[in-house]
Amino acid sequence: KELQLNIEEIEKGGYDHFMLKEIYEQPRAIQDSYRGRLLADQGLIKMAGVDDNLEKFMNANRIIIVACGTSWHAGLVAEYIFEDLARIPVEVEYASEFRYRNPVITDKDVVIAISQSGETADTLAAIKLAKEKGAFVFGVCNVVGSTISRETDAGAYTHAGPEIGVASTKAFTTQITVLTLIALKLAKEKGVFSQSKYHEFLTELENIPSKVEKALLSNDLIEKVAAVYKDATNCLYLGRGYNFPVALEGALKLKEISYIHAEGYPAAEMKHGPIALIDEQMPVFVIATKRGHYEKVVSNIQEIKSRKGKIIAIVTEGDETVKELADHVIEVPETFESLTPLLTTIPLQLLSYHIALMRGCNVDQPRNLAKSVTVE
Ligand code: G6P
Repeated sequence: KELQLNIEEIEKGGYDHFMLKEIYEQPRAIQDSYRGRLLADQGLIKMAGVDDNLEKFMNANRIIIVACGTSWHAGLVAEYIFEDLARIPVEVEYASEFRYRNPVITDKDVVIAISQSGETADTLAAIKLAKEKGAFVFGVCNVVGSTISRETDAGAYTHAGPEIGVASTKAFTTQITVLTLIALKLAKEKGVFSQSKYHEFLTELENIPSKVEKALLSNDLIEKVAAVYKDATNCLYLGRGYNFPVALEGALKLKEISYIHAEGYPAAEMKHGPIALIDEQMPVFVIATKRGHYEKVVSNIQEIKSRKGKIIAIVTEGDETVKELADHVIEVPETFESLTPLLTTIPLQLLSYHIALMRGCNVDQPRNLAKSVTVE
């Protein structure tokens, strides 16, 4: 028993929990996910799984992404990236819904399955169905040799390293990184991107690990914010565009490990329902980074404020406008709009971690949840 405990301590590498370790591993994990693929100096992205099947991607009528849980959120971010950068239509589906609804799939479709474990039963069933219908199926998995990585026609590993905490953190940001690489590559191939714009993107993506490093420096501030809201019974997470899926993921993280009810919403949809919930008891986490509908988000923040909701905003470094309105602001470095999810996710992960810890929850092994769901 003692030996077992010691091994676990060693595996945690000095951190109190696997989740915290994995949050802090993200700069490294993101770097590992593009290592050998992103060659900014040569203006090149090399990915064998994509290179070998370029025709399939280039001729695809659309890309259908299937996944569950956090991986589904990464799929939603990818939808924005693929459509915005590569101009390819994308649909994102819960694997569990896709497999049971007699979906229209043809051999002109590319299906991307995203799965950390590579073992999720619903995702596996969805890709089997897609293959039967003749689609080309591409896997984005973390676990090497996993069932999904073997069942797909081709794929790209995320190389995040083992993720032990049940609540997914580094798997999410590395999935986004890999999907961004694919989108950038296709954007270039399609001629949507000039060489110079491509180069700019590659360079900025290379800067992301150090910007994640910087985002992690807010940990102490985030811990203080967590202490203020740890007893909340409900929380709302809002974001627009690229950061709408980040709002969903922020809410999921809080639900999973702190058992606080939380909902993620597109900020503009607030007026169609969730606004009715807002009162002085309601913490609202808003992603309000510069670029990407900033003014619109600011006006959403004003609406929350006038209803006395508590506002915790994730903003771009140096933001002054939101600071005036919000109860707390947490800064992240500036980057391209399409890359902001890689940064805005970080404070929300830390927030959930600290709140869960303060509530005495088992952060790494939340009740009722499993790391890998191999049953329907
Ligand atoms: C479970 C895990 C989640 C994960 C989801 C999908 O619910 O607790 O963290 O996002 O499964 O798992 P996958 O391994 O397919 O990404």
